Amino acid sequence: MPAVLESTTPKGLEGVVANQSAICYVFGEEGRLIYRGYDIHDLADHSTFEETAYLLLYGDLPKRDQLKTFTAAIKAAQKLPKAVQRIIKEAPRTAPPMDVLRTAVSAAVFVDPDRGDDSPAAESRKAIRLIAQFPTLVAAFHRLRSGQKPLAPRRGLNLAANLLYMMSGTLPDPEAAKAMDVALILHADHELNASTFAARVIAATLADMHGAVTGAMAALAGPLHGGANTEVMKMLLEIGTPDRTEAWVRAALAQKKKIMGFGHRVYRTEDPRAAHLRRMSEELARKAGQAHWFAIQQTLEDVMRREKGLYCNVDFYSASMYYVMGIPLDLYTPIFAVSRVSGWCAHVLEQHADNRLIRPRAEYVGAMNRTWTPLSRRA
Ligand code: COA
Repeated sequence: MPAVLESTTPKGLEGVVANQSAICYVFGEEGRLIYRGYDIHDLADHSTFEETAYLLLYGDLPKRDQLKTFTAAIKAAQKLPKAVQRIIKEAPRTAPPMDVLRTAVSAAVFVDPDRGDDSPAAESRKAIRLIAQFPTLVAAFHRLRSGQKPLAPRRGLNLAANLLYMMSGTLPDPEAAKAMDVALILHADHELNASTFAARVIAATLADMHGAVTGAMAALAGPLHGGANTEVMKMLLEIGTPDRTEAWVRAALAQKKKIMGFGHRVYRTEDPRAAHLRRMSEELARKAGQAHWFAIQQTLEDVMRREKGLYCNVDFYSASMYYVMGIPLDLYTPIFAVSRVSGWCAHVLEQHADNRLIRPRAEYVGAMNRTWTPLSRRA
């Protein structure tokens, strides 16, 4: 008879501390977030995505020459290998971009120069390649499915601006490029969120970086995690106008529906990332003559706080910000991945640096001591 363990495990592992990490921490009660000890507000106000990615991967802010070398390494790895280009060319035009991105990342290992080498130096090079290739992959598939030729990354643009340029084919407005850079900083890591935990579990079997990132992508896609940003915009489009908002949200709550972009497993107050996204979304929406999205969102926030005591999360204002930038809805979650891959890679490196297999137990609640009967005698 199997030993039945005493139940100590809350559903969804709420509040469980599953491992140590020096990368990122969420202070849920206070609404604070730090990357490697730096407050997210400082990073959002002063850093760049490239610098933040370096910080997450290596633990310290880069010195000038270190940042130069890191940025050059990213630029050198932005072009997609032919084998990966073929995979996205052959994907059905109607495939969800997250599925295509996940498949392409998985396939990228076939031609990765460090394939099979799990030394820290090789893994670090793989991380740089993945960070570099994600924007090119997202943009290339988008252009192919729209009947356009993929564009090569443009010299002189940072990763965020290149992402916008390669998707649209036009040089981005500096305000939009800056907003995207900040959005990438804000999404880069978030402690043991579902996709990062998935990455660490995979990495802890000593599977490789591409495998861990592929698994993380699958976890990110779900609407309770990174897929929420697309769902937020669908909701805003369904609501349509500010005057319909209050009635719409009250009806949805009465039907016990989840309102996308609200709530969080850890934050008990406002998600600190939302403040930056709210400001940028409002500014860009006003500039684009689409201020009604902001008005709808303000009402949603008010009602959700009053009725449910819930605050918006990172997906709420990123959705409207991407929308007014003209980005198609199904690219919001891939853009989340463009940023979060830096966090996933940092966690894989940290896991491999001091590894132990992650293998928890289940609380068994199934049947016991049953007697096997032959098929012919089963009623
Ligand atoms: N809309 C309406 N009610 C919500 C809600 C939301 N977005 N999020 C949580 N709640 C309510 C639940 O209905 C539940 O109420 P109850 O106790 O009366 O049943 C309570 O708040 C706790 O929610 P629960 O789903 O158990 O919290 P969780 O920690 O398991 O889930 C999320 C966290 C993020 C998955 C959840 O808040 C959610 O589904 N949000 C919408 C999706 C989203 O925006 N995801 C992105 C997260 S960054």
